[in-house]
Amino acid sequence: MKEQIESFRQETIAELSSAKTLADTEAVKFKFLGRKGKIADLFKLLPKVAADERPQVGQLLNEVRAELEAIVDAKMASLKPTKPKASVDVTLPGRRPFVGTYHPLTLVLREIVDIFRSMGFRVADGPEVELVKYNFDMLNTPAWHPSRDESDTMYLPNGFVVRTETSPVQIRVMESQKPPVRIISPGRVYRRDRPDATHSPMFHQVEGLYVDEGVTMADLKGTLLSFYRQLFGVHTQIRFRPHFFPFTEPSAEVDVTCIFCKGSGCRVCKQSGWLEMGGSGMVDPNVLAGVGYDTEKYTGYAFGLGIDRIAMLRFGLDNIRLLVDNDLRFLRQFAGI
Ligand code: DAH
Repeated sequence: MKEQIESFRQETIAELSSAKTLADTEAVKFKFLGRKGKIADLFKLLPKVAADERPQVGQLLNEVRAELEAIVDAKMASLKPTKPKASVDVTLPGRRPFVGTYHPLTLVLREIVDIFRSMGFRVADGPEVELVKYNFDMLNTPAWHPSRDESDTMYLPNGFVVRTETSPVQIRVMESQKPPVRIISPGRVYRRDRPDATHSPMFHQVEGLYVDEGVTMADLKGTLLSFYRQLFGVHTQIRFRPHFFPFTEPSAEVDVTCIFCKGSGCRVCKQSGWLEMGGSGMVDPNVLAGVGYDTEKYTGYAFGLGIDRIAMLRFGLDNIRLLVDNDLRFLRQFAGI
């Protein structure tokens, strides 16, 4: 009898392990453990077992049944589909799809472009892979100028660079158009800067250029004052500090009153009350002559400013990398702006 029980046990386990589906398993369960299954036949044999062995054999049979039922249950649980089939609850509120956001640089750039457009400037574009001729030579950059150093500039073969500034767009526009010219040109620029909290090998500038009859430095100053007041608020002042740029003469660096302390001095402006915004000046007659403009008749001004810096100030960012890391946790904060 014990041998019979053992072979029943093994046969059941073998068939269970070859059962692939829930239905197969159920069939095996029915055949071996059902009320009229093979196990029932074994129980029917019990009365014929010798009386002194009967309790032991009965116990064995019960244990085997419990063991096999446990195997069947585990197998059925693993084969059962985990989700109920039709479980759409139409009364649940919908899941809101994530709506994209504008990148902080885009937000700032749109503001800048809107302001200059309202003052009559047109947006001009230029390539990021630029001719050395446009990036340096025609911008009157002398051979000795440090910006030409290989330690600052990424040179490409055959007379090309990845542009180090947006100023070459000035040349492209003036070569293709007679005055009056009034453009701004936003875009990416590249330098071999060691990355830190405020430096990145790729950043963004906006170039501005106005060439016409009778353009003066007063026009430059008035335009920039108006621009920065629209961008940072009506209390903003600007100041020019004498500087040198190869393509302007005279040249000036432009500061605005600190947007945080309004000029009284704070940590951001290093107690100076001023924030440096970019360069500017009167277009050097050499540059105008280089594109064939009559330097007796025309004068112009130009300026350049950094978009990343303005975005960092505007949104209180302490690291320029936030603007290029594409971290959605950061970017999603600009939703709805
Ligand atoms: N190209 C300059 C730079 O990257 C910025 C600049 C200064 C642009 C003066 C100008 C300008 O147009 O007039 O540092």
